[in-house]
Amino acid sequence: MLYHDVLIVGGGLAGLRAAVALCDVYDVGLFSKVHPIRSHSIAAQGGINAALANHPDSRDDTPEKHAFDTVKGSDYLADQDAVRIMCGEAPSIVYEMEHWGCPFSRFPDNTIAQRPFGGGGYPRTCFSTDLTGHVLLNTLYERSVYKRVRAYPEFVTLALVTDGDVCHGAIMLDQIRGEIVAVAAKATFFATGGYGLVYYYSTNALTNTGSGIGISYKAGVPLKDMEFVQFHPTSLIGTNILMTEGCRGEGGYLVNNKGERFMEKYAPKAMELAPRDIVSRSIQTEIEEGRAFDHELGKYVNLDLRHLGAKKIMERLPGIRRICLDFIGIDPIRDPIPIMPAQHYSMGGIDTNAKAETATKGFYAAGECACVSVHGANRLGGNSLLDTIVFGKLGSAAIDQYLQSSTFEPDEGLLAARRKEVEEKVKALAGGGTERPFKILQDLRMTMSRYAGIFRTRDELNHALTTILELKERYQKVGISSSKLSMNYELIGALELESMLDISHVIVLGALVREESRGAHWRRDFPERRDADWLKHTVATLGKDGEPHIDYSNVVISGYTPMERKY
Ligand code: FUM
Repeated sequence: MLYHDVLIVGGGLAGLRAAVALCDVYDVGLFSKVHPIRSHSIAAQGGINAALANHPDSRDDTPEKHAFDTVKGSDYLADQDAVRIMCGEAPSIVYEMEHWGCPFSRFPDNTIAQRPFGGGGYPRTCFSTDLTGHVLLNTLYERSVYKRVRAYPEFVTLALVTDGDVCHGAIMLDQIRGEIVAVAAKATFFATGGYGLVYYYSTNALTNTGSGIGISYKAGVPLKDMEFVQFHPTSLIGTNILMTEGCRGEGGYLVNNKGERFMEKYAPKAMELAPRDIVSRSIQTEIEEGRAFDHELGKYVNLDLRHLGAKKIMERLPGIRRICLDFIGIDPIRDPIPIMPAQHYSMGGIDTNAKAETATKGFYAAGECACVSVHGANRLGGNSLLDTIVFGKLGSAAIDQYLQSSTFEPDEGLLAARRKEVEEKVKALAGGGTERPFKILQDLRMTMSRYAGIFRTRDELNHALTTILELKERYQKVGISSSKLSMNYELIGALELESMLDISHVIVLGALVREESRGAHWRRDFPERRDADWLKHTVATLGKDGEPHIDYSNVVISGYTPMERKY
């Protein structure tokens, strides 16, 4: 058995930020499924929002204005007190990263450069060309090395251990040594990322299976607002690689097969820089109404950067150009980029407050796996990198406070018993079951993309629900070819599939029950936002019957009265 004061799961920005804050005082173990600098935070391209007022058009920007834009972008489902905290922390977070060595792009006066992003009233997205997640992650990783954070890469989390009230640690698969180990901890912090892989069309890395979310749910921790799934408007056709919102922030156009900048119809003021939910629906409408281009890989519209010129594209969007050249052989300097919307982000997640605390004592969560909620029904681009670092920091402060006032010691007997159970479960998977995990996963991902996508109806969601229940039945007969514990991706796939089925179940059920349209959750059969009935968070808990139970909690409204969103 391993022992740490603080067990952090996830080597992305939220996990690393918490680790560097806690490691001077506590014995911290940072466990991650991949090496920390391969975490999905690295894939964020366009930037991190902070009201620095550096841009000539944002001299009167303030954290309060940032908070308002975030609440409006969220379609008023975000908790306004938490949003104010996040936006208030933003400038100091960005300067802290700068002082730790993060190479932000600069304006000629040497201040940190900022660009406009969707739904932001001001150009407030700080960036490093189109590699912002990459440079932030490397900066925090270097800081964690400098501070000698103890890292355990290639550890897959299999179970969260609680006694119903308090968290005692987790059960992990050490992929390198091929062992299942119990990790005892006084406090456990999940920063495990999103669940994008439950969708077939997704910008997410293959690691984003949502296992931290699924494991928490299995352990009885409530999930919040899971029906709110963000679809990024611009993913590269064929691969669904992210084409950053920074392309539109720098002035890129969206154009249909008639040569029209169609956003004029949907968001006449903001145009391409409307929030993501609106832009994704607009593109999908163009596709459905026959104004898209056809390609063997699917239907698409064009993201046109050509008018920006070679210099700007090479300076501000070099990664985008490289991806286009490498993956589909086009050069955005000369050719428009074929794009389609794809799943991108999980607004919902483990139910936490603004201190990253969950309903289980000693168990914390932050970043994409958590729902504070600061993004409500629709996240603004550039607020996710911010969320990870802010709540990684605030979560670490809450853990510090908890540990200072607690005499709790994890129960080694409980951990050993849970470890044994997990070991039995793993052995049973190699016991001759006939269903192959990758086939169930393929059916799940297609079902989610087709029937729980940008537009939803009761019939489609019912179809998705029925299919998920059938897939759960099939999962009972799942089998793998080897129970070998080291680097056995078939085994990991089979174990993570259980979480993916649970997560999809909760997404679809929440979407079915919520009979309104708000942010990224758009019901064709209920096209209005219905505040009187639905201005509330959905909270899903695993019942004793093994089924998700849906309840609701209040949205914190503290200053911004819900209004119609106009862009
Ligand atoms: O478009 C992007 O660069 C993505 C940013 C984000 O999701 O915040």
